[in-house]
Amino acid sequence: MPKAWVRRHKRDYYYRKAKKENYRSRASYKLLQAVEKYRFIKPNDVIVDLGAAPGGWLQIARELVGEKGFVLGVDITEIAPLGYDNVVTMKADIRNAETTRKIKAVLPRPADVVISDVSPKVSGVWETDHARQIDLAEISLNVAKSVLRWGGNFFVKAFQGDLLRRFLNETRREFDVVRVIKPKASRKESAELYVLGLGLASRS
Ligand SMILES: C[S@@+](CC[C@H](N)C(=O)[O-])C[C@H]1O[C@@H](n2cnc3c(N)ncnc32)[C@H](O)[C@@H]1O
Repeated sequence: MPKAWVRRHKRDYYYRKAKKENYRSRASYKLLQAVEKYRFIKPNDVIVDLGAAPGGWLQIARELVGEKGFVLGVDITEIAPLGYDNVVTMKADIRNAETTRKIKAVLPRPADVVISDVSPKVSGVWETDHARQIDLAEISLNVAKSVLRWGGNFFVKAFQGDLLRRFLNETRREFDVVRVIKPKASRKESAELYVLGLGLASRS
């Protein structure tokens, strides 16, 4: 890691807050701020968290659903156990179709909410990073469509750029309401934003 990056990271308000409040990542506050505004996770919900490592969103999701809800975290890397019976983790690649089948097999019932903070390794080349992020957002949307109940919600990381409009249109086709969100905890200089789909629509 470049020294300047490490210095800036340690000075960062949300980085220090996460350390103090025992959250595994500063990303926890992005989810928390979005849920505070749009209320898309409720007590007792079944949640699927894609790209869940190291587990900051899992911690927030568990707090929101409580002991009667259920949270499944999926990541290509291992996630250290959170220590709750109703938080389960799975090491898997969301690009693999088999992962969707495995997710369905673990859930107690179709999910109420799919959240995805999946992001690729950044190459530094703008077009490449944008395209990879949108590709993972589209894969997350496909997973959401197969594991959510009708009326369920979807919250996913995306990147500003040419392909965003196409992704927004795809999401609008599936959900009753779609919002683009930039939580305060997401760095201003970052192209990152989040897309929220409320109410998976039935097409029958
Ligand atoms: C920004 S981090 C997620 C942080 C997490 N929301 C938290 O609060 O701790 C992005 C994650 O996406 C995961 N990831 C990237 N590509 C993936 C893939 N194809 N399948 C599953 N996970 C993936 C990475 O391993 C990484 O842990």
